[in-house]
Amino acid sequence: MSGSRPRLLDLFCGAGGAAVGYHRAGFDIVGVDHVPQPDYPFTFVQSDALEYAGRYAADFAAVHGSPPCQTHSALTKGNRARGWTDTHVDMIEATRALLDSTGRPYVLENVEGSPLRRDLILCGLQFGLRVFRHRYIELGGWSVEEPLRCTGRNGEGAHAGYRVAGWRHGKKYAGNIVAPYGHGGGKGTRAEWAEALGITWPVTKRGLAEAIPPAYTEWVGARLLAVVGGGEPPLLLLDVAVLAVAIVRVHVSSGGVPRMVKRVLSTTEVGWLFAMDPRTVPAYCRARHVEPLGRVRIGKSWVTRWAVEDVIAIAPVPRDRAVS
Ligand SMILES: C[S@@+](CC[C@H](N)C(=O)[O-])C[C@H]1O[C@@H](n2cnc3c(N)ncnc32)[C@H](O)[C@@H]1O
Repeated sequence: MSGSRPRLLDLFCGAGGAAVGYHRAGFDIVGVDHVPQPDYPFTFVQSDALEYAGRYAADFAAVHGSPPCQTHSALTKGNRARGWTDTHVDMIEATRALLDSTGRPYVLENVEGSPLRRDLILCGLQFGLRVFRHRYIELGGWSVEEPLRCTGRNGEGAHAGYRVAGWRHGKKYAGNIVAPYGHGGGKGTRAEWAEALGITWPVTKRGLAEAIPPAYTEWVGARLLAVVGGGEPPLLLLDVAVLAVAIVRVHVSSGGVPRMVKRVLSTTEVGWLFAMDPRTVPAYCRARHVEPLGRVRIGKSWVTRWAVEDVIAIAPVPRDRAVS
């Protein structure tokens, strides 16, 4: 369905827990992680997340970020209280600052206790799952009308009647909730973790320990989709519409001298440019790769079609000056 669904950039993507929910909600997904993620079920780019987002986030309709969270987890905090040192980094602030600068609606997700705004506090029980896995969700540049906010504790409040199974402080507890993290005994098998999280594609125990249930982002994604709109028009229609407008504009503004560059896939880093003057594109487009694909006839005019990859900048073509 590529081309008819808005694109979402999934930063710090891990094995794809968040991604699958957004895909179910109606987005096409590109995931970025700095280590290989062989289980990730969509287009994957291995890169530093902030470096990639700095270059490309504006090309997406929306962005999701799950910056590293160990620095805020209960385990890390407990270890620090005992005086143990750690090298966990906090990328939340840098990620938020970068996404604010893109102007795109975004979603930040992190563990309980992290310094995120608690626009939502999601819990597996809200989605009929056998996990608590509380996650704070901060919504950047948009909001939801009826936010979900679980404040339950193990066996208390909204968690009344639900208890985590497994060993705690040397004692084994029976329970009806799975804790899909850590290595302690009685924590369940990989298959039990996957089932409890609602993860249906092959993911290692480590990936499951870090993943959020796809149900969370399916819920968030359905609301985000309503904000960004249902999708882009199919490429062919877009081509024709952009060209028609551009041709009329060039003829009107430059006395009939056809000179223009029009970026057709304006929201992607890979796409096509059309130019009436074949010298125009290399002169005004800076990209990693630019290559003419031949001439096509549009109405009475011939235009050159160029393939471009990784566009860095396209300067507007001056109306009053011929390209030399
Ligand atoms: C909490 S996990 C993400 C889980 C994922 N959202 C999911 O639902 O499956 C955080 C991920 O961030 C990645 N990561 C850490 N630092 C990174 C960086 N600088 N750039 C890209 N990815 C990074 C880690 O490799 C890890 O996979």
